[in-house]
Amino acid sequence: MCGIVGYNGRQNATEILMQNLSKLEYRGYDSAGIAVVNAQNKIEVQKSKGALASLQDKLKKFPLFGSVGIGHTRWATHGAPTETNAHPHFSDDLSVALVHNGIIENHAELREKLEKHGYVFYSQTDTEVLAKLVHYYKNKYGSPMDALARVSIRATGSFACCILFDSQPDTMYCIKKESPLVVGVSDGESFVASDALAISSNAKEVFFVDNLEIVQVKKGECKFFTLDQEPKQKTPTKIDLDGYCSCKNGYPHFMLKEIYEQPEVAERVLSRYIKNGEVNFLSAGIDQSFAHDAKHISIVACGSAYHAGLSAKQTIESLCGVRVSVELASEFRYRNPILDKDDLVVLVSQSGETADTLAALREAKQRGAKTLAVVNVRGSAIAREAHKTILTFAGTEIAVATTKAYVAQVLVLQLFGLFFAKNNPNFKKSTQKSYILALLDIPKKMQSLLSNSSILQKLACVHSHHKDAYFLGRGIDFATAQEASLKLKEISYMHTEAYAAGELKHGSISLVEDGTLVVGILTNPALAEKTLSNLVEAKSRGAYIVAITNLESSKIKNVADEVVFVPHCLPMFSTFLSIVPLQLFAYYVALSRGLDIDKPRNLAKSVTVE
Ligand code: M6R
Repeated sequence: MCGIVGYNGRQNATEILMQNLSKLEYRGYDSAGIAVVNAQNKIEVQKSKGALASLQDKLKKFPLFGSVGIGHTRWATHGAPTETNAHPHFSDDLSVALVHNGIIENHAELREKLEKHGYVFYSQTDTEVLAKLVHYYKNKYGSPMDALARVSIRATGSFACCILFDSQPDTMYCIKKESPLVVGVSDGESFVASDALAISSNAKEVFFVDNLEIVQVKKGECKFFTLDQEPKQKTPTKIDLDGYCSCKNGYPHFMLKEIYEQPEVAERVLSRYIKNGEVNFLSAGIDQSFAHDAKHISIVACGSAYHAGLSAKQTIESLCGVRVSVELASEFRYRNPILDKDDLVVLVSQSGETADTLAALREAKQRGAKTLAVVNVRGSAIAREAHKTILTFAGTEIAVATTKAYVAQVLVLQLFGLFFAKNNPNFKKSTQKSYILALLDIPKKMQSLLSNSSILQKLACVHSHHKDAYFLGRGIDFATAQEASLKLKEISYMHTEAYAAGELKHGSISLVEDGTLVVGILTNPALAEKTLSNLVEAKSRGAYIVAITNLESSKIKNVADEVVFVPHCLPMFSTFLSIVPLQLFAYYVALSRGLDIDKPRNLAKSVTVE
């Protein structure tokens, strides 16, 4: 999603803005631009379509000099990824320039109003409306603060903006509603960004900008105001990027590096939350009483985080003896959910900024439910707003396709199940012990899988030509199948689907023809025979079968054209091991296709719009 940066200090703003924009590249973008206040106190803008490198080339020919500036990477929502649609947007007289992350819902109405006042629009974006609205109110009311207070009320939807006014060349302004924004201050310099990661090398502490605040950013100082322009006192938060490393450590892609970090992540999560052989969430301020009254648990999330919920649902339900439903945040928030104080709503999110998950959290709180965030980014909006937060400690994840953060989410959710199982009178302590021992074995088993990745490399080379792939599984294997399918589709652009194995014959089997790639996941001895018979149905219609299994079964070997063995573990924890070869498979297919693995087309790391 769009990334914003701002700088006000003593150095050349262009360099700092470009450096910090590059740290936001992982969020996904398709064009970029910067605006700088020059020595004559005039605002100058350069933008370009495509990667930051094209903007950099442009800046070599047409450099911008000044010590105050704003920058943006755009992920297109309104209008194609063109130079005209790229940010910063500005007023015709270049007295105002603005960058924006979010969506202005009433942009059409505002545009009509501004056109009546003689404003001309050149782009298809909602953001140009915002830039011109700021200009309009600045002319009408006189001061930047008045204009920004007015705009914050008048614009509906979501926005995080950095704004320059040539009338106040030494000051940069920010406003915010829903979309994330942080400000960091160090000796004589100030930095603004969409996330703390981008300015972590510039400032040790950040202020999280709250909704409907106006921020005045000067050199080495920032002041916060309400929309009534009353000053606000705020406390900065220390930047603590657990496990952050911006380098690839010799790996060709962040995704591969992050896949290989999974054993270490699993070990970190286990050592954080298992104390003296028992699950312990006291470091998150959570004790047994937190979920004691919960009669129903809803796990609400998007994308892979939703799959993590699916993967842990059965464990939590069976261990805790409480009904668990897993829901897509984008549906949950609009379906008028019936919730009350007996409900526990668990919001799962790597970034902690996903707009739909954040909205679902607010909906749940408003309806009186207890909320728990399972989040990777400390200090993110979801982490701040939920009643309690359990951090997933996956470390910073750069690749758009999540791997280690997903595994950490599944692990935390499984631990959550084990923890609250103690509230279940039917759950035996000895069972708890054996489950914990099984979990403690996972990192080692993951490691052994990763040491033997060449088989996946070969498999991916052979199958990278397929147009379609289908993933089948039952129970937890179906949850893993859904994640495996998303992984392959998002980075290789191959059309993939996941089906509950038993569902295939109810319609989708008509898609199977000679050579169709069907991947079956079989890790539960109680369900393997059933899944196998569904694979036989596909094979009889010409499918090429790849089986991912931990079962030594001659039947599986006879049916499958290829078998990938994963280490044995309790069926409820099988995702940790069966997902690894499937992540590698997706990675190597995308590699054979020569694609941009870490930044797949059209995708953003952090989805901060609906
Ligand atoms: O930051 P979140 O965990 O809330 O993000 C949710 C999804 O957008 C995310 O998992 C997405 O599906 C990934 N690209 C999958 O690899």
